[in-house]
Amino acid sequence: MKEWYDKINETDSVDALEEIRIALFGKKGVLAAQFAKMKDVPNEQKGAFAKELNAHKQNLMNEFSAKKIVLQTQALQEAMKAEAIDVSMFSTKSAVGALHPVMETMDRIVEYFSSMNFSVKTGNIVEDDFHNFEALNLPKYHPARDMQDTFYFKDEMLLRTHTSPVQIRTMLENKPPIRMIAPGAVFRRDYDLTHTPMFHQVEGLLVDKEGAVSFANLKFILEDFLKYMFGDVDVRFRPSFFPFTEPSAEVDISCVFCKGEGCRVCSHTGWLEVLGCGIVDSNVFEAVEYKDVSGYAFGLGVERFAMLIHQIGDLRSLFEGDIKLLEQFQ
Ligand code: PHE
Repeated sequence: MKEWYDKINETDSVDALEEIRIALFGKKGVLAAQFAKMKDVPNEQKGAFAKELNAHKQNLMNEFSAKKIVLQTQALQEAMKAEAIDVSMFSTKSAVGALHPVMETMDRIVEYFSSMNFSVKTGNIVEDDFHNFEALNLPKYHPARDMQDTFYFKDEMLLRTHTSPVQIRTMLENKPPIRMIAPGAVFRRDYDLTHTPMFHQVEGLLVDKEGAVSFANLKFILEDFLKYMFGDVDVRFRPSFFPFTEPSAEVDISCVFCKGEGCRVCSHTGWLEVLGCGIVDSNVFEAVEYKDVSGYAFGLGVERFAMLIHQIGDLRSLFEGDIKLLEQFQ
């Protein structure tokens, strides 16, 4: 039996060890053959013979198990070495960039209104009090200014709080009719789950002859637009207030998360507020010296649209430049 101990010890692979197992412990193996010899051993020697053979069997099994663990561990280590990935290695694959989800959403919005013949205006990010507030029927000390508190510079200059001043600039520079949208950055003193100090809006303004523009026109285009952006949603208009429109409405879509059933995102109402709109107030037309005209206007937050389209929970994450988050929207 001695040579079998050596064989086990000298094996250097799991496969070879398996062959030894069959040759030694198998049904037709060496040990079985030895035990078969029992019957030829004289009775008085049987006990000693069996004892020795059983001792060998036990020892060989111990050796075998120990060797098996050693060989398996070795095989695993070799496989790990062979398959290891060098994470510090340079990749020759170059990353493909993509538009930020906010810009991509803005592009889609612009695309829709361009197809409806709206021109695109930009205006100024640093505005004066007249264009941002006064001409929009928001006189000094009017309480509605509080909702849009912002960052002021000297001489009544400020970071615009909305894209509505672009309406004023466009009307002052052009004769009616007007059919424009104004996408761009705006600023407010807000910071929470759904507000950042800088965000983007798209403003819309349509002006034509007196009596030519109705709330029905506004309703039609916004419903069509919201279905273009969000698919098959329900749209509702709620009475609201903006100093520069009268009547004014806030527009809701049925919740894109729960399909109107009611969930945490829609505060269990089944509706999500997505934009503000209304018929342009006559005081605004007076401020830009437009006569005998009618018009509608609307304004929306692009980040909010992007969040709802991509189902992003925290608006602030859009501005953290986290590649892992952004890559998901490529
Ligand atoms: N300027 C408004 C806001 O920022 C949105 C708005 C625009 C509402 C045009 C009505 C008409 O809240």
